[in-house]
Amino acid sequence: MTSSPSTPPVGNRHGGPRDKGREVQAMFASIAPRYDLLNRVLSLGVDRGWRREAAREALGLSPRRLLDVATGTADFALELKVRAPEAEVVGSDFVPQMLEIGRAKARARGLTIGLEEGDALNLPYPDGSFDAVTCAFGFRNFADYGQGLAEMWRVLAPGGRLVLLEFPPPRPGLFGSAFRVYFRHVLPRVGALISGNAGAYTYLPESVLAFPDPERLAGLMHATGFRTRYRLLTFGIAAIHVGDKG
Ligand SMILES: C[S@@+](CC[C@H](N)C(=O)[O-])C[C@H]1O[C@@H](n2cnc3c(N)ncnc32)[C@H](O)[C@@H]1O
Repeated sequence: MTSSPSTPPVGNRHGGPRDKGREVQAMFASIAPRYDLLNRVLSLGVDRGWRREAAREALGLSPRRLLDVATGTADFALELKVRAPEAEVVGSDFVPQMLEIGRAKARARGLTIGLEEGDALNLPYPDGSFDAVTCAFGFRNFADYGQGLAEMWRVLAPGGRLVLLEFPPPRPGLFGSAFRVYFRHVLPRVGALISGNAGAYTYLPESVLAFPDPERLAGLMHATGFRTRYRLLTFGIAAIHVGDKG
């Protein structure tokens, strides 16, 4: 594997948005070869069900053109294509190593999707290009949430739909406390062991704990212009936010 032990940890403490973007890129480039395996192990396979639910929401208005932002190794983009074979599906990400794995998976499954390099904060698509935009576990990594939402709004056609799937910070209560322990102590160790990158799996819980709670995220979407609703999955470990444009 190609993981680099010198990959820096990612966090806001290192400087401005550009620094965070570069650090996130370096981190995902380093863990790309083990990313899918880690996803399955660390979520005990539950992430598949979350993606299915989010895909159902994304396809609710029968979109013809879909963009999956921060697509990574394309799991979500492929899920969309399987469920909507007639639709044009494009996945975009700023880490070529993640996209390359996505392309191999698409080829192996005989599915045709576009996988293109692009920064979510400056999407390389004209206004109104897509009927649905999705982002699964990518939004949390953006250096500027407002700019990310503004870009997704811009590339959506009027009447289009945005679907975000994310990990909200654990809620108070017994389950939330247990989850915090798993997140802080178990996940970084297992992640470091499998990926060889200790920084990446320390960053994951840090980024979740620093992420806006679901109500605040809904507020940010609303402030961008979206008509917004959300629901929590698996005792609040994950959340789906839906934003309709117009
Ligand atoms: C946790 S992975 C999620 C990948 C995929 N969506 C999934 O569900 O497995 C986060 C992805 O977000 C991408 N990413 C983070 N910030 C980005 C940005 N500003 N522009 C494009 N991609 C970004 C990373 O490169 C990484 O592939």
